[in-house]
Amino acid sequence: MIFGNTAITALAPMQDVTDLAFMRVLARIGSLPDLFVTAYFRSTSTTCAIAEANLRCIEENETGVPILAQLAGSEAAPLMRDAERLLQLPIDGINLNAGCPAPLVNRHGAGAGLLRDPKALQSVLQGLRSVVPPGKFSIKCRTGWQDAAEFPALLELLAAATPDYAMVHGRTRNDLYKPNTVCTETVQLAVRRLPCPVMGNGDICTVEDANHWLSTISPAGVMIGRGAVRNPYIFRQIRGGAAPTAEEMKLYYRILAEETDRILHTKRTPAGHCNRMKKYLAYCYADFTAEQEYTLRRCTNIDDMLRILCG
Ligand SMILES: Cc1cc2nc3c(=O)[nH]c(=O)nc-3n(C[C@H](O)[C@H](O)[C@H](O)COP(=O)(O)O)c2cc1C
Repeated sequence: MIFGNTAITALAPMQDVTDLAFMRVLARIGSLPDLFVTAYFRSTSTTCAIAEANLRCIEENETGVPILAQLAGSEAAPLMRDAERLLQLPIDGINLNAGCPAPLVNRHGAGAGLLRDPKALQSVLQGLRSVVPPGKFSIKCRTGWQDAAEFPALLELLAAATPDYAMVHGRTRNDLYKPNTVCTETVQLAVRRLPCPVMGNGDICTVEDANHWLSTISPAGVMIGRGAVRNPYIFRQIRGGAAPTAEEMKLYYRILAEETDRILHTKRTPAGHCNRMKKYLAYCYADFTAEQEYTLRRCTNIDDMLRILCG
């Protein structure tokens, strides 16, 4: 059972960012969360796009941290089929994506697209609930499509499907990732109305943010994405550990370079390795000068990149 008496932390799924390499980095620096969630597997009537990178997160997860497989889709039958398939793997449960704002995904009614079609949402929730064993079904959602005023009705649908827990990103689809749009009151509404533990998510960037959420908004736990890429020691800090030193941040970049190298393996080229690093660095540039950022963005050689990152 993932939830006990104490609040838990989760690494938010981020396609191509919170991948196997990043999970391994967290293990090596001693700052693991309590829960991982894969980025979504896209589930349609014709296919489940079994993204190899997501599969590796499950099959090669040697961190000891439980991992959920996330599915994104708009029809119950394919989602049920793919949930049953994924449940054969060493996962701790199935997580339904009702938050992805990508137009391509939403156009087909999946991700946050489910939030503007209550019938589809209800059917998908009921279908998944019927095939996912007790304790193993969760949903990650935003607070509406256009407006958070939609959320109370959505919460009724969610509650009726009796998920085992939920992660609520305090933005609507309309908010995309715009700054200052996370609405903590709406997350609190979910905590009050859902008959299951609710983790809060959205712009939790520091240990102070996390502690504020844990003490006032989402006592069951916090889910952190971009903030953990910028400061991967945040999970250690939430457990009462020290803030990272400058040396520890350098260690992070070095280990990230090693672990991305390891997952790229035979597909590795110097520029490819740098491009892979840039997927994470996109969330770290604020810690560098404008000149360093400019050079990092143009790096095609990992040694040059590490010279800037680690001095
Ligand atoms: C590049 C990127 C990829 C993402 N991929 C996923 C995904 O596959 N599944 C999902 O549920 N959310 C995904 N998200 C949303 C995050 O899980 C999270 O809800 C969002 O970033 C807000 O949390 P944060 O402010 O802590 O980053 C993604 C976000 C970003 C920026």
